[in-house]
Amino acid sequence: MRLACVVGTRPQIIKAAAAWPALHRRHHVDLIDTGQHYDDEMAGHFFGELGLPPPSHQLGVGSGTHARQVAAMMDRLEPIVLDDPPDAILVFGDTNSTLAGALVAAKLELPLAHVEAGLRSFDRRMPEEVNRVVVDHLAELLFAPSEHAAANLRAEGIGRALSGSGVGGPAGSEVRVQVVGDLMQDLCAATLDAARDPASIRDAAPGAVAALGLVPGGYLFATVHRAENRTPGALREWLSLLGGLDRPVVLALHPGTHRAIDENDCAVPANVRVVPPQGYRTTLALELHAGAVVTDSGGVQRESAWLGTPALILRETTEWPETLEAHGGRSALVGRDLGRATAALARLAPLGAAARDATTRARSAQVAFSGAAEAIAESLETWLTR
Ligand code: UD1
Ligand code: UDP
Repeated sequence: MRLACVVGTRPQIIKAAAAWPALHRRHHVDLIDTGQHYDDEMAGHFFGELGLPPPSHQLGVGSGTHARQVAAMMDRLEPIVLDDPPDAILVFGDTNSTLAGALVAAKLELPLAHVEAGLRSFDRRMPEEVNRVVVDHLAELLFAPSEHAAANLRAEGIGRALSGSGVGGPAGSEVRVQVVGDLMQDLCAATLDAARDPASIRDAAPGAVAALGLVPGGYLFATVHRAENRTPGALREWLSLLGGLDRPVVLALHPGTHRAIDENDCAVPANVRVVPPQGYRTTLALELHAGAVVTDSGGVQRESAWLGTPALILRETTEWPETLEAHGGRSALVGRDLGRATAALARLAPLGAAARDATTRARSAQVAFSGAAEAIAESLETWLTR
């Protein structure tokens, strides 16, 4: 089968890389990069690091308002797809690139498959939530990472959820939901051994580790990039939260957040070391050996949960509730509230136990393999040859 696989941002390139070997074995895949992320450390680097071939089409859209960005992506994607129509368009996650790919597929009446279907934060102020809802309602083949996500789809009247790897829905049913596991979990499982050596955190931006005297369990690893955390008030609140946690923090900063900090003249607390976005393996190592992670990233939140690293989530909602303390996980929603963050850190990663905990974790963490890539590739084949 011929698939057009649309990516554009860091997490999508990572997800596509996790799916690539299985997709490539069974299908002819055209990788189309919208160029939503364009800095080498946000995009290009990951193709090489994770063995993804260069995209067959680079749309070069770059940054802009959401309307301009999505419109430019659609405008540049449509002729490519019209020129050589694929059997299906495959999109990942919940970004503007996901939305643009889905809208082009729907408008051209091409089959659309969505990986990471069914996630809901139930907060429509999040641009990603709007994208998820629209894309899930346009897709015909929905790959949910969990039963919980599939239940969210059922609650919206989408498809008929099927567990396991079979796709055969009711006769005549065009919309199918399948629980396939999580591509990012499988990449995490495959990369874990390369991150176990504590020396691997030294690969983080030159000098940062030495400058902070980082040792396993002795630092917090942070990433921040949600739109809600880039307003001037929010920037000051979470920077002050990081300062108040009073432990060394390695902050791998998204360039958009970096720009917002600079434009608003925000002071970075002395215990916070800003480093550029890191490669995938180094990020995993920084997560594995940290005393705790502080993040608003969906991917980093999940990786911390799989690795067993405590996490403070700089949000009030999450589309990954299974990672939370209330559901047996080790992460806590703390918003931008220092009191909640301090209490959660003391509970989940007490100073006296953090080093021992990180050392044990690095030696013994096991991440289960979900088989998502193979399930997706097989399901696409069955579905498209139906
Ligand atoms: C996007 C996604 C978000 C995802 C994140 C992953 C949307 C609405 N948001 O957010 O869901 O979690 O990617 O990282 O699609 N910039 C650069 N260099 C780059 C890319 C961006 O400097 O390579 C800066 C620009 O100033 C830009 C800003 O970051 O205006 C925001 O970029 P954008 O693509 O709009 O959204 P992200 O915040 O990256
Ligand atoms: N990541 C990375 N380098 C970094 C920060 C994150 O490689 O400096 C990886 C992280 O390990 C995860 C993915 O990027 O695999 C998550 O992407 P991001 O946080 O950009 O987006 P989200 O998951 O919130 O959509």
